[in-house]
Amino acid sequence: METQSISTKKQPASTEDITAAVRANLSEKRWLHTCAVRRQAAALAVRWGADVKKAELAALLHDYLKETSDAELLQIYADNVIISGNGNALPLHSRSRAAWHGICAALILPERFGVRDAQIVSAVDCHTCGKAGMSVLDKVLYLADMTGDDRSFPGVEELRILAMQDLDAAMRRALHSTVEHVTACGGELDDESLAALRDLEK
Ligand SMILES: [Fe+2]
Ligand SMILES: [Fe+2]
Repeated sequence: METQSISTKKQPASTEDITAAVRANLSEKRWLHTCAVRRQAAALAVRWGADVKKAELAALLHDYLKETSDAELLQIYADNVIISGNGNALPLHSRSRAAWHGICAALILPERFGVRDAQIVSAVDCHTCGKAGMSVLDKVLYLADMTGDDRSFPGVEELRILAMQDLDAAMRRALHSTVEHVTACGGELDDESLAALRDLEK
């Protein structure tokens, strides 16, 4: 008798299903932000030769857990970090709180949505703080998050223009302004942001 191997891997969810799941998990304001990031990620991907579909999917998923409580994020991390094969990653507590939602979303993309593409997972993982050795897609999502048409902080228009002119210069400016802002507010500076900046200034 022929034995059939049964795959337990979750099949990729449709874009419609992912869209519905993300929307259901977010407030209207955060959903509108996600839509703005998706539009901007597509524009930046076209400009810098990244895969537009991957950029849009990463943008759609990037803030999936943005409104999830710290306690739930810690539980998601504990439940998934070993399964994901990322068991040597730093404990969540050693990272800035601002980065938790992206790190945890990246961990659950394969099981929850069947999204296993390493480039998409990486972009979601580092979209808040960056990291050393960012790919073009990582930079596209990082900058799309900061320069979508829903953003209105001082200097955003200049950053929007720079993101279309020079991707790495825009990354340096964005990271510098984040470091300055976090330092001025007395917040926690994530080591990965400093690593990203050092890498881009080499
Ligand atoms: Fe985010
Ligand atoms: Fe965001």
